[in-house]
Amino acid sequence: MPKLKLPAPPIPLPKPLPKRPGAPRQTPVETATEAGISAVDWVDERTSLSGAARWMMFRKVPRGTNWFYTLGSSTMFAFLSQAVTGVFLAMYYRPDAAGGAYESIRYINNEVFLGEFVHGMHKWGSSVMVILIFLHMARTFFFGAYKYPRELNWGIGVALLILTMAMSFTGYLLPFDQRSYWATIVGVNINGTGPLVGPYLSDFLRAGPEFGATTLSRFYAIHMLLIPGIMAALIGAHLYLVAKLGTTAPPWLKPSDPVKKEEKA
Ligand code: HEM
Repeated sequence: MPKLKLPAPPIPLPKPLPKRPGAPRQTPVETATEAGISAVDWVDERTSLSGAARWMMFRKVPRGTNWFYTLGSSTMFAFLSQAVTGVFLAMYYRPDAAGGAYESIRYINNEVFLGEFVHGMHKWGSSVMVILIFLHMARTFFFGAYKYPRELNWGIGVALLILTMAMSFTGYLLPFDQRSYWATIVGVNINGTGPLVGPYLSDFLRAGPEFGATTLSRFYAIHMLLIPGIMAALIGAHLYLVAKLGTTAPPWLKPSDPVKKEEKA
């Protein structure tokens, strides 16, 4: 009968012996490192999350992986930056169509400590995210990463692209100045011309037949609660599929290509 080899039982490692009297004392850095390791161990012993973290972070990547593969992570960083700056803006912003919204933005820019900086990061960050998401989509398209078995991830990406555009559209109204007001009226009317769902969509966006105070609240709720929540969930699914399926090798590399010396090392 073949001998079965059982996996080693998960016995915790023995604790290090206490220091001998007179031994040199730990430096603050050593103490901090040890404290960090014990804290992570404490969480891992109760959750076993380290396996999942290792599965996600330590993956083999194909040969020829290059800077273009950083565009997805850059898009994710732009999303996170928008989320963080958005939380700080929400602490001061008021979705009040009777002048309160405009006034709260003026207050953020002129009175709040670093307000103009955070507002600027959020405003310019939205354009950065749109540029990055298009570049990332172009990378995956030109590298043929939309093909089997990554069609579902491409589909999730398309949903993320539409939601990113919806974020830009709903965010544009929030300062409630002349430009954002009239631009949004044009945008909502364009939505209304869509086949079948168009009129329902524009009614939904306006929160009624007329553009008014409730439109601003609706845009704000969609912008800061509904879409970011869906996007966070979809990004999670997108990354899970990236880790599960791995990334595509650049199309110019053939399996028969000789491995370069530095790749072997
Ligand atoms: C919020 C938006 C998005 C985020 C945060 C994001 C994030 C990522 C990350 C981190 C990767 C792995 C690294 C890389 O290849 O860059 C990736 C891969 C991928 N993404 Fe995205 N992505 C987003 C939008 C999109 C869009 C709009 C599409 C296409 C319509 C898309 C399609 C794909 C595909 C097909 C892969 C697999 C690439 C491969 O196998 O080589 N993603 N994404």
